[in-house]
Amino acid sequence: MAFMLKINGTSHEVDVDGDTPLLWVLRDVLGMTGTKFGCGKALCGACTVHVDGAATQTCITTVIAASLFAAGRLIARQDLRRG
Ligand code: FES
Repeated sequence: MAFMLKINGTSHEVDVDGDTPLLWVLRDVLGMTGTKFGCGKALCGACTVHVDGAATQTCITTVIAASLFAAGRLIARQDLRRG
């Protein structure tokens, strides 16, 4: 399923399963590796981004939830080491 996400002011269309954690969409699909995996349980904050102004742990937030509840407006950590 296709989702439109606006990340750091730029719109991105991604075609992934709606249950995919937002973290993996950011990292693996869009190559934004500035968002890190840590605990995977919403405990450490390594994967935190702002979703419509609210700090959100992307390891437990599905892409469909992010796109529905925040109209896909995200602020992700800048990727300083692409690749
Ligand atoms: S990876 Fe630790 S809070 Fe998401």
